[in-house]
Amino acid sequence: MTTLAFDSKLGVKKSAKNAPHLIIFADSDGKILGGFDNDTNLERAANLISAANFSGALGETVSDYALADKASAISVIGVGKLGKLANNIAKVAAAAFKAGKNSKNVVILWGDVLCQQHFGQFALAFLNAGYRFDTYKSEKTKTTLSTATIISTKDTAADYERALAHAQATFIGQSLTRDVANEAPNVMNPSELAKVAKQLGKEYSDVVNVNVLGEKEMAKLGMGCFLAVSKGSDEEGKLVVIEYFGKSGKGKKAKLKNPIALVGKGITFDTGGISLKPAAGMDEMKYDMGGAAAMLGTIKAVCEARLALDVVVVLACAENMPSGKASRPGDIVTAMNGMSVEILNTDAEGRLVLCDALCYTQDNYKPATIIDAATLTGACVIALGGVRSGLYSNDEDTLFALQSAGEYSGDLVWQMPLDDAYDAQLKSTFADVQNIGGREAGSVTAACFLQRFIKENQAWAHLDIAGTAWQSGENKGASGRPVPMLVQYLANQVSN
Ligand code: BES
Ligand code: MN
Ligand code: ZN
Repeated sequence: MTTLAFDSKLGVKKSAKNAPHLIIFADSDGKILGGFDNDTNLERAANLISAANFSGALGETVSDYALADKASAISVIGVGKLGKLANNIAKVAAAAFKAGKNSKNVVILWGDVLCQQHFGQFALAFLNAGYRFDTYKSEKTKTTLSTATIISTKDTAADYERALAHAQATFIGQSLTRDVANEAPNVMNPSELAKVAKQLGKEYSDVVNVNVLGEKEMAKLGMGCFLAVSKGSDEEGKLVVIEYFGKSGKGKKAKLKNPIALVGKGITFDTGGISLKPAAGMDEMKYDMGGAAAMLGTIKAVCEARLALDVVVVLACAENMPSGKASRPGDIVTAMNGMSVEILNTDAEGRLVLCDALCYTQDNYKPATIIDAATLTGACVIALGGVRSGLYSNDEDTLFALQSAGEYSGDLVWQMPLDDAYDAQLKSTFADVQNIGGREAGSVTAACFLQRFIKENQAWAHLDIAGTAWQSGENKGASGRPVPMLVQYLANQVSN
């Protein structure tokens, strides 16, 4: 693993032994960004730029290993148009990691180019570029890079130290999110997810309590919608409850005080159930626990940063399988709050496990606000793609805070509507509500379904992360989103 450090000292010592690999940036005008006055490395970089006919395009890299004279290696990374750098931080960071990953020590010279916000984004993206999931590969990727030091000359060093610590905590959480989401679905079943939560409880036992409910306990509570999903699988459904005492101390019988509640969809595999999905690409439905994985990673980051607030995490973990015990289209079940639900499509299972989890959260805690994350609808992938997560909220403050945290962290969201006219699509012939709203506005009607289980005056936001939680194609894998946005949001709540 690579550790990242920050230094504000001017100049880089150039000893022949262990000389670091220097990374310098230049824009599309060939202008070197940052660096230090009187640093001879700038001259080297300038020579390299002209010798290599370097254009400074985004991600373009030229390196000079200069091993002959024992000087340090040097790489120049293109950042493209300077005016667009703010939007390209993650790409620049990935190129920097790629340039330096086969060296032992790297020194990244940003000079005073990056503000605290973009410094934090750069640090997190640089760390994430080193993430691998190769548990099942006979040959593991070895990382040569052990220490990367970002040097910035801004005189507000403390702010940069803080931004780096925040990025490191976020990275630790985000890596857990990616690990559990990338894990194979024959391994990462609801019990295994619960086990990961229990482990987290042990690791941070001074601030965390973990409680896991099985199907019997959920039946007692009347969670008929959750059980309608989990009963089709041989794997038992689990409701995982993680309490984080960052503000109220965790004594015996301690109670969280108006915690922020994070609720995650944890479908460890979604076949669609009796409303079976087509075969092509179905493997990606192992990522249908991406919401639960994100909330796990978020609380891990919160633990790492020891944020001074109270949080409760509720994960609705189940496997959606077709079987002789599975729910049928037409089945009518009752949620924990007494609402009857007509299941017209067993593939709309996320909202079924979530509605009971939302009832449970409101009944057992008095949350200041509830935020749920779910890989809820294919319709959201069509609407927003992989760029922004869909954001729904009944509360102005929560909405604005999440949007701001998204912009600040670069982990973007976009507000979607919750008009009553959409909710009307959920009117059922035989029950209080039906679990699908038709083809039109599929992500919106899914959110409207969830909102029916939110009590009056309860602040709530829903994140549809179906498009952002993972990537398909050649670089298939969990993204760890929206962990950066959520950790930023929670950190902002501390100072408020
Ligand atoms: N997990 C899926 C949503 C999904 C689909 C996420 C594709 C990412 C990529 C969810 O459980 C689902 O199947 N939703 C249905 C709802 C429909 C039956 C109303 C969908 O989106 O097709
Ligand atoms: Mn489904
Ligand atoms: Zn699903």
